[in-house]
Amino acid sequence: MVKIEYEGRSYAVAGKESVLDALLRNGLPVAHSCKAGGCGSCLMRAVEGEVPAKAQAGLKESWKEQGYFLACVCHPESNLRVGGVGADARLGATITALDLLSSDVMRVRLHCDESIRFRAGQYVTVILEGGLSRSYSVASLPNEGELELHVRRISGGKMSGWFHDDAKVGQRVSVLGPSGECFYVAGREDQPLLLIGTGTGLAPLYGILRDALLHGHRGPVHLFHGALHKGGLYLVDELRRLAGRHSHVEYTPAVLKGDHADGFEVGPIDQVVLRKFPKLTGWRAFLCGDPTLVQSLKKKLFLSGMASRDIYADAFLPSAPSS
Ligand SMILES: Cc1cc2nc3c(=O)[nH]c(=O)nc-3n(C[C@H](O)[C@H](O)[C@H](O)COP(=O)(O)OP(=O)(O)OC[C@H]3O[C@@H](n4cnc5c(N)ncnc54)[C@H](O)[C@@H]3O)c2cc1C
Ligand code: FES
Repeated sequence: MVKIEYEGRSYAVAGKESVLDALLRNGLPVAHSCKAGGCGSCLMRAVEGEVPAKAQAGLKESWKEQGYFLACVCHPESNLRVGGVGADARLGATITALDLLSSDVMRVRLHCDESIRFRAGQYVTVILEGGLSRSYSVASLPNEGELELHVRRISGGKMSGWFHDDAKVGQRVSVLGPSGECFYVAGREDQPLLLIGTGTGLAPLYGILRDALLHGHRGPVHLFHGALHKGGLYLVDELRRLAGRHSHVEYTPAVLKGDHADGFEVGPIDQVVLRKFPKLTGWRAFLCGDPTLVQSLKKKLFLSGMASRDIYADAFLPSAPSS
C-alpha cells in the first residue's frame, strides 16, 4: 500500500483515495474547496517521490519544477513525502477596496505584498486566517498593480459571505496563484473572439477583453454576459462605453427573464449566442462561470465548427460538501 509522509507522520493511501482524501480521513486540516482539480486550493509540495503528471496539470512551470501538485487529484503510485505550501507560493495581501457592483456582486481589490505575475483571466486562491480557501478570477490587468476580484454572494456561503458582510479595507488575506489557462494568447490578431459568461463569469472576461485590446487584437470581439434578470448584470454602462470606443468590440447583455425594452437580449445565453452566430469555424472562445453552462457551451461551439483547441474555459466549480 502506498504511504504518504506528512509533518513527520506516515499515512496509508487506501484504494482509490487521493492524497487529500487520505489526509482528511486522518483528521488533518488541509485546505481544499472543489476536490476536483479545478480551484487550486489544495496545493501541496512533494519533497520526495514521484507525483503523477495529472496532479500537476495546469500549474505553472516553476511550481511543477518545485514539486507542487494538487492533492485532490493526486493518486500516487509509490510513496511520497509531502509538505504544505511554502512562502514562495503564498503571498500576503491587503484589501484596498470593497465596492458593490450590483446587489450581490462585490468588487474586491487586493494589493499583494510582492508583485504577482499573472495573465488577465487566470484565477487566484484567497486564503483566510482560519484556512478557509476559495478561488476567484482576476478581472484586472497586470499593469494595474492590484488584483481585482468580483465576488458574488452565495446564500449561506462562507467566503462570499465574509467578503460581503465582514471584510474591511485594510484587512489581510493570503493569496495563492495564479492558476488556470483561460487567458488571451497574442498572435492571430484578426481571429474573431467570442467571450461568454454568466454572473461573475464576467470577471475573467472583463480582463481578457481588455488584455486582447492591449495586445492590439484587430478581429471582431463579441462579449456576451448573461444573468437571470437585469439586476444580475453589472458593469453594463462601462462595457457599453468600452464597446463604443472600439468599433470591432460588441457587448451583448442578456437576461433569462425580462424584456427587450431594457436594451438586453432575452433568453438562455447559449441560444442568444448561437442565434446570432450559428457558424463559428475559425473563431476563438473564452467561456467562464457556471460549470454546467460552460460544459454545454463547449460542446455546442464545437458542433458549430469551432476547433476544440480554440475553446478556453474556466468553470467556477463550487466547494465540495464540508469544505
Ligand atoms: C477557477 C474558479 C474561479 C472562480 N471564480 C469566481 C469569481 O470570479 N467570482 C465568484 O463569485 N466565484 C468564483 N468562483 C467560485 C468561488 O470559488 C466559491 O466557490 C464561491 O464564492 C462560493 O464560496 P462560498 O465559500 O461563499 O460558498 P460555500 O460555503 O462554498 O458554499 C455554500 C453553499 O452554496 C453552494 N454553492 C456554492 N457555489 C454555488 C453557486 N455558484 N451556485 C449555487 N450554489 C452554490 C455550495 O454547494 C454550498 O452548499 C470560482 C471558482 C473556481 C473553481
Ligand atoms: S483543486 Fe483540489 S480542492 Fe480544488
